[in-house]
Amino acid sequence: MKSKKKRKNAMLNNGEDSGTGVEENRLAGNDRGMVEVAGGDEGQDVAESCRERENEGLETLDSLSKSFPMNGGNGTYSYSKNSSIQREASIIVEALINEVIAEKLDIENISSTSNTIRIADLGCASGTNTIFATQHIIEVVEKLYRSKGFESKIPEFQVLFNDLPTNDFNTLFTSSLPSEKNYFVAAVPGSFYGRLFPESSLHIVHCSCGLHWLSKVPEEILNKDSPAWNKGKIYYTSASDEVADAYASQFDRDVDNFLNARAVEMVSGGLMLLLTIGAADGVSRSEMPQGWVHDAFGSSLMDMAKEGLISEAKVDSFNVPIYIVRPNDMVRAVERNGCFSIERMQLTDPLLKIDEPLDMHACVTHARAALGGLIAKHFGIEKHFESEIMDEMFDRFDKKAVVFSTMEPRYKKNSVLFVTLKRK
Ligand SMILES: C[S@@+](CC[C@H](N)C(=O)[O-])C[C@H]1O[C@@H](n2cnc3c(N)ncnc32)[C@H](O)[C@@H]1O
Repeated sequence: MKSKKKRKNAMLNNGEDSGTGVEENRLAGNDRGMVEVAGGDEGQDVAESCRERENEGLETLDSLSKSFPMNGGNGTYSYSKNSSIQREASIIVEALINEVIAEKLDIENISSTSNTIRIADLGCASGTNTIFATQHIIEVVEKLYRSKGFESKIPEFQVLFNDLPTNDFNTLFTSSLPSEKNYFVAAVPGSFYGRLFPESSLHIVHCSCGLHWLSKVPEEILNKDSPAWNKGKIYYTSASDEVADAYASQFDRDVDNFLNARAVEMVSGGLMLLLTIGAADGVSRSEMPQGWVHDAFGSSLMDMAKEGLISEAKVDSFNVPIYIVRPNDMVRAVERNGCFSIERMQLTDPLLKIDEPLDMHACVTHARAALGGLIAKHFGIEKHFESEIMDEMFDRFDKKAVVFSTMEPRYKKNSVLFVTLKRK
């Protein structure tokens, strides 16, 4: 890759409210929330270097076999019944999506080259969240066409729903997708850490609560001989620096693959809307609220191991493959990639909007819907979502997690990171 002059200007303005209804931090390189990473006059070089990386994203992803999707169907512990927190996260960034599409989507350019706008929702799962989110994006784009006098040029829309091949696409298409809709749909099974779509075919990429899922647990934390071995814990926030570094490096590798693939697939000027769990750069990892929840679960599992109900070795080798993304992680990833500019980056929080006090039982059931498959596979539990041992694990987790609900509210703030990237 050619060396480039980098320009970066990210700063943190505390407490600015842009209409999402919560106190939030806003990262901005200028007054419109833009963090520019590379100069626009270098667009041609950058485009070439993105294309050069086309094959990198096509490598076989053996990690796919280690990934487990959300629990399918519509049962008690299904993702579709237990994803209201993720829905709240999407709702809270709707106003930001409205702004960023209105300001940054170049419809004159799009309408001169295509009659179809292709929107990919990456990590769509099986519930209705993906439907609401993509429907919202379509409405905002249509409104933009009307407001700019392009009424007669309103395009057709195609929504490409992506998730791992084991995702319950049947429930998505039979229960969640409305029968009346003004867009075409297709399912695209595969890992978003590799190529999924043809070159220059996507106008908008949306990924909500997906990118923080690592492609795999970092190998060194499973190695008993490594200083990063994560004995007795299932997460990194209260673990050693070596464990935390291993998680961060895995995220770096994954996000690089993600951006390389999207750089090839997106049209120039295309927008990427990303929502991940997150934390401000200045928050120490031991203070991250998401970590306290996983620690409560890890401690429940260790109690069960000590009582002989499950194997301690299995607890030692179980780790939650989720990374809490900091703004600087994204700034550095975008710099390394070079094909995107950061148009908006903002921390916000869905949790405070849901209930006061926080409904920890609902949080635990959400965790069961998301992690149940992974846990069942790891601990060799059959009939995983309804088994007694699974009930025991999550009952204990439920009791310990109550501590989390008494946490100081300041720790619960800014637990979601919204980032908009533009393909150069
Ligand atoms: C918490 S769910 C979010 C679902 C939905 N976007 C929402 O907001 O409700 C995360 C989704 O990302 C999917 N996922 C995780 N890693 C993935 C990967 N490498 N490729 C594609 N999908 C992935 C999971 O299977 C899961 O359905």
